[in-house]
Amino acid sequence: MPSSPPVPDNAIRGPVLTFTGDPFASSVEETMRYESDAIVAFGDGVITHFGPAEQIQSQLPETVNVRNFGADALITAGFLDSHVHFPQTPMIAAFGEQLLDWLNRYTFPTERKYADKAFAASVAKVFLNECLKNGITTSCVYCTVFPQSVDALFQEAERLGMRMAAGKVLMNRNAPHDLLDTTQSGYDDSKALINKWHNRGRLMYAITPRFAPTSTADQLDSAGALWDEFPDCYMQTHVSENMDEVAWVKELFPDRKGYLDVYDHSKLCRPRAVFGHGIHLTEDELCCMHHTGSAISHCPTSNFFLGSGYLDVYRAKDPRRPVRVGIGTDLGAGTSFSILATLNEAYKAAQLNGKALTAGHAFYVATRGTAHAMYIDDKVGSIAPGMEADLVVLNMKSTPLIDYRMQFADSIHEALFVQMTLGDDRAIQATYIAGKLQYQQASI
Ligand code: GUN
Ligand code: ZN
Repeated sequence: MPSSPPVPDNAIRGPVLTFTGDPFASSVEETMRYESDAIVAFGDGVITHFGPAEQIQSQLPETVNVRNFGADALITAGFLDSHVHFPQTPMIAAFGEQLLDWLNRYTFPTERKYADKAFAASVAKVFLNECLKNGITTSCVYCTVFPQSVDALFQEAERLGMRMAAGKVLMNRNAPHDLLDTTQSGYDDSKALINKWHNRGRLMYAITPRFAPTSTADQLDSAGALWDEFPDCYMQTHVSENMDEVAWVKELFPDRKGYLDVYDHSKLCRPRAVFGHGIHLTEDELCCMHHTGSAISHCPTSNFFLGSGYLDVYRAKDPRRPVRVGIGTDLGAGTSFSILATLNEAYKAAQLNGKALTAGHAFYVATRGTAHAMYIDDKVGSIAPGMEADLVVLNMKSTPLIDYRMQFADSIHEALFVQMTLGDDRAIQATYIAGKLQYQQASI
């Protein structure tokens, strides 16, 4: 017998923005839905009603309390972050290096500290709190080589009820010896973590070879074999971020056609593969990403910070062979937890490629697009009955300058563009996780 639909026990009201499809595949006009005064009701963690306020109000039981955020708010699906390193929170804003030197000088020494579970737990709390403050309700997270760092993150995410993917970094060469695993220990530790955490509530495991230079072909093969055993897990790694890195991979894997082929050869290109960056991928490699259902995580604040380059998102999403693209903060090479600030940089990356990223495309990528890249767009990333009730409420007048500028915005497109260009964590009024208010700004 079908189970009875959830009954609403809570609701919020205000202007709502959501997407019903992919504007890169059709158009913003066809896929963006904006309601100037709507109600979103939810119960048991799931959205039960969404529509114009005057229609929905009469459908709700009288016991449901509708919280009205008013006309200066904007309710959207929670933001997703498809690429982030929680252990790098203490080293965000580290000066002066590009990727490979930055890893050696700042990243590896910091990641060593996560042998200590208590330290890992303290950072996990700070990290997830920052996510909530920035309206991020789902992330795909790198931990460290130490399994206890994965336990720390998942324990805190579980306490908050967040839909979260994460995994232990696999790394058996080209890093300090006390940060290395072996092919066997990496496999065993990852498998134990999958059995412990994968699909426990809203948690999902990501098999996580850091990147080709820090894994032997043998370890990459073993990651592919582990994924065969647990095909609904994620696999996350980095690809074609930096030109020196690309050259190094060529030296390390002379028999492979290119960087992506190293992963493809180990059966790591498939649905639920999330590749960070992909800035310098060739047309053949983008075709491979398309055919295998792999995704790119676009991390513009990181790419500018490390001087890596700038992804051409319209090229990646070319409708003739579209690649799934999500947004990523890539903290701590990324410089902000704010998805709005990240969209601001995504706009600049597109400009440097001679294209302007519209606000409609940008907000799609931050919500439904990243959910699509992660194959969870049937669960999160948009607002509709049956979707999980992960919601963010923006304040569209969060600073004096934005308040002033908004007087002159005469369309929702312009208003959204102002938010993504000028907005940051101050624009996040409230964040709901599975229908539960988990963050609200102190002043309201
Ligand atoms: N490539 C391999 N490891 C990392 C990392 O920690 N950050 C970034 N941005 N790139 C990487
Ligand atoms: Zn990264």
